[in-house]
Amino acid sequence: MVYQKPLVVGKIRTMIFGAGGMLGTELCAVFQDAVKFKRSDVDITDKKKVIESIVKTKPDVVINAAAYTAVDDCEDNRELAFDVNGIAPGHIAEGCKLAGAKLVHYSTDYVFDGSMKEYRETDHPNPINAYGRSKLLGENNIVAKMDDYRIIRTSWLFGVHGKNFVDTMLGLSARMETVKVVNDQFGKPTYASDLARKTAEIAGFAPGIYHITNEGVCSWYEFASAIIGNAAPCTSEEFIRKAKRPKYSVLVNTKTTPMRHWKDALAEYLNKRKIMV
Ligand SMILES: NC(=O)c1ccc[n+]([C@@H]2O[C@H](COP(=O)([O-])OP(=O)(O)OC[C@H]3O[C@@H](n4cnc5c(N)ncnc54)[C@H](OP(=O)(O)O)[C@@H]3O)[C@@H](O)[C@H]2O)c1
Repeated sequence: MVYQKPLVVGKIRTMIFGAGGMLGTELCAVFQDAVKFKRSDVDITDKKKVIESIVKTKPDVVINAAAYTAVDDCEDNRELAFDVNGIAPGHIAEGCKLAGAKLVHYSTDYVFDGSMKEYRETDHPNPINAYGRSKLLGENNIVAKMDDYRIIRTSWLFGVHGKNFVDTMLGLSARMETVKVVNDQFGKPTYASDLARKTAEIAGFAPGIYHITNEGVCSWYEFASAIIGNAAPCTSEEFIRKAKRPKYSVLVNTKTTPMRHWKDALAEYLNKRKIMV
């Protein structure tokens, strides 16, 4: 049984690292009373400051949405990637243990190598790029340092408050006749706002690893075609990136109720974006 006890947002003391990011901003909207830390407040690689901030805040739950997420740049800046995504989550876990707080942390579909068509929470990670390796180190450091963690692996995030695939496609579509998009990498797009709301539920669940995405599998090309009218399919060989990407990074959620289909979430996001422009 996964369910532990209901967590009533507003009745618990929550603190958020990475409050200025795409997911972090959505988390701030869900956990309105949380104590919020952006990078300018606490750099999560600063162990002393991280531990001090947690102990001083005395939270029931710490949510870490801070990460170095530029997948290709991680290949060039491995040390930074491993510091932020790999070692720093261990500092946060130490702080949580000292303060007696639960930790909710986010990881990625890119901890898997893509050789299987889909991945359950218990499947063996085997990352094929520096970002994935750094995120897996983060997971392992948390598990080694504390018991009361929830690690949420998610994928292909889009949302209002950050650089993301949907906005990139809209920008390219306006400038180019056709936009070539790879049609041989498959995953599950996920709306940051949906994930933030689901996080409140997961925080009340038993410790462990969770696979949380919107429902529905697609290729990047299929995702692009739902956003713009001038996408054209291509292969990964035609679109070489610095970091290797898994062919399949489809996360299967075996532990909790599914979220809505990504197409419904995308429709809401595109509407919201129209209102904002
Ligand atoms: N985006 C995706 O497609 C995706 C897919 C799977 C999993 N995830 C995971 O989901 C989580 C949230 O991702 P996201 O897309 O919301 O990322 P994001 O928009 O890049 O936000 C990450 C935040 O972390 C901050 N940060 C970076 N280094 C830091 C440091 N040393 N100390 C403190 N803060 C630091 C960034 O600050 P600056 O803006 O100042 O750099 C940014 O505000 C991450 O764990 C990520 O690995 C994301």
